[in-house]
Order: sequence, then structure tokens, then C-alpha cells
Amino acid sequence: MYQPSQTRYDSMKYKSCGKSGLKLPAVSLGLWHNFGDTADYENMKRLLFTAFDHGITHFDLANNYGPAPGSAELHFGRILKEDLAPYRDELLISTKAGYEMWPGPYGNWGSRKYLLASLDQSLRRMKLDYVDIFYHHRMDPDTPLEESMGALAQAVKSGKALYAGLSNYDGETMIKACRILEDLRCPFVLNQNAYNILNRTIERNGLKQAALEKGKGIIAFKPLEQGLLTDRYLNGIPEDSRIRTDGRFLHEDALTDAKLTVIRQLNDLAAERGETLACMALKWVMKDDAVTGVLIGASRPEQILENLKALEGAPLSAEELKKIDELVQPLLA
Ligand SMILES: NC(=O)c1ccc[n+]([C@@H]2O[C@H](COP(=O)([O-])OP(=O)(O)OC[C@H]3O[C@@H](n4cnc5c(N)ncnc54)[C@H](OP(=O)(O)O)[C@@H]3O)[C@@H](O)[C@H]2O)c1
Repeated sequence: MYQPSQTRYDSMKYKSCGKSGLKLPAVSLGLWHNFGDTADYENMKRLLFTAFDHGITHFDLANNYGPAPGSAELHFGRILKEDLAPYRDELLISTKAGYEMWPGPYGNWGSRKYLLASLDQSLRRMKLDYVDIFYHHRMDPDTPLEESMGALAQAVKSGKALYAGLSNYDGETMIKACRILEDLRCPFVLNQNAYNILNRTIERNGLKQAALEKGKGIIAFKPLEQGLLTDRYLNGIPEDSRIRTDGRFLHEDALTDAKLTVIRQLNDLAAERGETLACMALKWVMKDDAVTGVLIGASRPEQILENLKALEGAPLSAEELKKIDELVQPLLA
């Protein structure tokens, strides 16, 4: 039986989601990859236990994480039941709905019918009474925002979720959604969006500014751009890397010569600071007042330990931040 480390809360930092009372660890772990049917069950346990042993209290899932869709929630539910059940109140567990989950018109996007049925399915897979955060996974141009937000509010009112979240929303739509959720007295606390040195979408689509203005948190997903912002691909594509072992969402052609050149320059800058590129890339995301925490993925426990070093040492100086912007400018244009 797993016994968590007694020192698990000694070094992690926790920050409130915007103006809410809910605190996120500076680093959270996502189960998008490495928790599906093709992954090793014992490794899943090692990943979760390593994370929790170091104060990573937040595990992020979605209905469709796998492969097969749903299997990450199933495996997570089994580990929860077998090993983590005594610690349920120490854990923050999130799931989402918004992408295709089952065939037909009711298994995708943002209808009340889909969102509430999907949450019930997620709870059954994870063997949970409630999740801590239930997200709408993406904006739905064809469903009235009032309907999707009404479903999130219903999820909270029914006790199946404690808080509501929005993922992949832009600033303007988030503000509209926020007003509806306020009217419904629904505790919407957190946005989940991609943000890293190479992906500045939330600076351009208003989400970052809007979250600050509305007092909402941001958890930054893909902070390492799926592994590109690490030393993983500096000398070719390793056989055990995400590009080779999975490749559903990260293809070899993402590694252009231009990108690789910039990644190598970033790696040199990190080396000058005496840290890895992964560490520097996470510090870059964490520097921001608008960001509550980073949401990493990992294929092995050592990566989690390496990434936690981003909590130590000097933050990036103004000069280093400027240098990073100059290096990546050609890729952002
Ligand atoms: N809401 C959304 O629409 C959405 C979309 C995407 C992701 N997310 C969430 O964000 C989470 C994280 O996404 P992500 O996995 O793409 O994040 P990421 O942290 O950018 O990438 C994780 C991958 O980078 C590599 N890696 C991590 N640490 C490393 C290190 N120290 N050195 C070398 N390589 C390292 C590993 O890949 P290898 O396999 O190559 O080792 C790892 O699986 C997901 O699990 C999910 O919860 C949400």
C-alpha cells in the first residue's frame, strides 16, 4: 500500500486561482498522455505517487484522454481506489467535456445534454462522487453560451463538481461566460489554456488580460510545448519520445530546422543560467502574475523531479526575458 511522503508539503508553492479561495500547486500533472490503454500501469502509479510525494496535489483529466478515450479516467480511478483514496481531500481532480467522446449529435461540443451526461460518465469511470473542477473543454460556436454555462452551473449545484472551469476560451467569450456564471452564482475560478515561450495565444486573444481583470486563474497547459522546450530533441528524435511513441498530437514535422535552431539557442541560454531548458521554460511561464500554475505532462518520474527544480533558483532577469523574446520572434510572426 502506497504511503505518501511525510515531507510532501515542504517545498511546493501554492497560489490562489484568481480571487477565489482555491489554491493550485505551482506545478500540476496532466494525464493527457501516458495514462491510456497503451501505457504501462505501474509507470502511471509511479508518476502519480512521485507527483503527490512532492506536493503536486492537482491531477488534470478529460473525458477523452486515452487512447482509448476514457481510459485515462479508468486507470486513474483504479489507482485512486487502490492507493490514493485516503487522500481524496488532499487532491484536486479535474475533468472536462467538449471534444468528441461518443458517436451521434450528443457526444461532442457544448450542449447541456452532452456536458451533463459526460460528467456522469467521468465520475463513473473514476469511481468518484464529485470532481473538484469541471471544465467546458472548448468554445462551441453553435450552442448558446447560456446553455453551456447553465450546464456547468447545474454540475456544481448538483454537487458533482465543486468549481467550474473554462478551457481554450478567448478573452471576449470568457468575459461573456463569466457574466452568465456570476448571474447563476456558479463558482467559476480557473481558465485552462496553452501558454509557453513558443505559444503566446492568450496574450493575443485577450484571455490573459481578461483573467486578470475578472480575478480568475489561469493554469497553463503544454508549458513545455509537448517536450519541444526541453533537451529531448536536441540531437535527433529519440525512440522513447512522444513524437515516436505516440505522435497523435505531436508530429515530426513540428520540428522544423528553424524551430530546432531556436530551441538550441534557448538551451544555450538555460545552460548559461546553470539549468535545463525545461526548467527555464517553466520559469518563463511561472513569472507571470496572471498565471496560477503550470500543467505539465511526464512520461517518467524523473521528468517530474527535474521540472520541480523550476521552483528553485533565480527567476529570469529582464535581460534574459528580452533575449528569449528576440530568439523566438521569428517563430511567433
Ligand atoms: N485543455 C486542453 O485543451 C489541453 C490540451 C493539451 C494538454 N492539456 C493538459 O495539459 C497537460 C500537459 O500537456 P503536455 O503533456 O503536452 O505538457 P508538456 O509539459 O508541454 O509536455 C510533456 C512532455 O514533455 C516531455 N518532458 C516533460 N518533462 C521533461 C523534461 N524535464 N525533460 C525532457 N522531456 C520532458 C515528456 O515527453 P516524452 O514523452 O517525450 O518524454 C512529457 O510527456 C495534459 O496532460 C493535459 O492535462 C490540456
